[in-house]
Amino acid sequence: MRIAVILGTRPEIIKMAPLVRACAERGLPFFLLHSGQHYSPSMDRVFFEDLELPQPAHQLETGGLPYRLQVGAMIRDIRGILAAEKATVALVQGDTNTVLAGALAAAKLGVAIAHHEAGLRSHDLTMPEERNRILTDHLADFLFAPTEAAQRNLLDEGLPPERILVTGNTIVDAVRQNRALAERRDDLLERLGLQAGCYFLATAHRQENVDSPARLRGILEGLSRLAAAFPAAGVVFSLHPRTRARLDQIDGTWLQGVRFIEPVGFLDFLLLESRARLLVTDSGGVQEEASILRVPCVTVRDNTERPETLEAGINVLAGTDPERIVQAALSLLGRPLAWPDLYGDGHAAERIVEALARHG
Ligand code: UD1
Ligand code: UDP
Repeated sequence: MRIAVILGTRPEIIKMAPLVRACAERGLPFFLLHSGQHYSPSMDRVFFEDLELPQPAHQLETGGLPYRLQVGAMIRDIRGILAAEKATVALVQGDTNTVLAGALAAAKLGVAIAHHEAGLRSHDLTMPEERNRILTDHLADFLFAPTEAAQRNLLDEGLPPERILVTGNTIVDAVRQNRALAERRDDLLERLGLQAGCYFLATAHRQENVDSPARLRGILEGLSRLAAAFPAAGVVFSLHPRTRARLDQIDGTWLQGVRFIEPVGFLDFLLLESRARLLVTDSGGVQEEASILRVPCVTVRDNTERPETLEAGINVLAGTDPERIVQAALSLLGRPLAWPDLYGDGHAAERIVEALARHG
């Protein structure tokens, strides 16, 4: 067997890291194939360093291309590499263009497709991620569902039960493996002038949010009002490059109390999350980490493929209306929260690698 670990964006690098570690520990032959979708050092290289990952054996250059050219170039190049390396399994994670291209390239060659984070559904087909997830799940031979709800989604779509394994999500493994290292970085708070337990931490990068000036403005205004309601706290916003580009195009002179920072590495971000009073985000991974790190979360979207966080009462969907964002934050801060383990026990990667090894 020979596993191609296909990755290309920030969340894929983070969530693949425990799988790479588990493959290495079990002595399974694997190599890393980087699609090049993310390429800025703060979105890519820093995670290889923080998570002590080996350098990719293959590095594509597809970052920043328009969708049709990006996915097309990825399929062509990934197909060539899978064939030359005689890969038997293509391991993909999540819902990005890299995932879809990896799955399509493998399907063309008859290479088995293994999908970590199978079965997540927002039921919103306008999102590129939802289309990528559905297509990938319907091509995959191994469906590693993080939760039983994700398993139900797959069964509801008629996918065969024998392909599905509920494993938990490797984000829990990644957080557990790195939390102690992150804790050692608490001088970061001092450098940013933040007080533990006081500040709000924000991220936003979804196409449907930041490419819409009205929605982006709504999020920023919500954060600004939150900063005004808690003047001693402050809001820190980690700026994804897509968001940075959009922000440069709008007039933000009215914006107050929000401090923008460049994206930080995983260890620094874990530290910032775990010491925050509340998270405001449209990120999938950050909603999961909120539940793992036990920090309440306001999600600035109209839907989520992580509904278990809503059911647990630790995450609230607020859309992008400024007043709803503030009210959602106040509602979470005003009541005691219970923190069930939603995404597994931190051994998802072992289960996945074990299943792949059994298959041979
Ligand atoms: C992608 C994924 C999204 C995931 C996110 C993780 C798709 C359809 N979207 O969105 O599901 O949540 O990654 O962060 O696959 N850019 C840089 N440097 C980088 C990366 C991006 O400057 O390292 C800029 C480029 O202008 C690029 C734009 O950001 O065109 C958008 O990047 P892209 O990878 O297309 O989408 P994301 O918004 O990052
Ligand atoms: N993250 C990070 N630094 C930052 C912002 C986020 O390391 O400045 C991490 C975060 O801990 C999470 C992941 O990036 O694990 C989420 O990635 P993103 O929001 O880009 O994508 P999504 O999860 O929405 O697909």
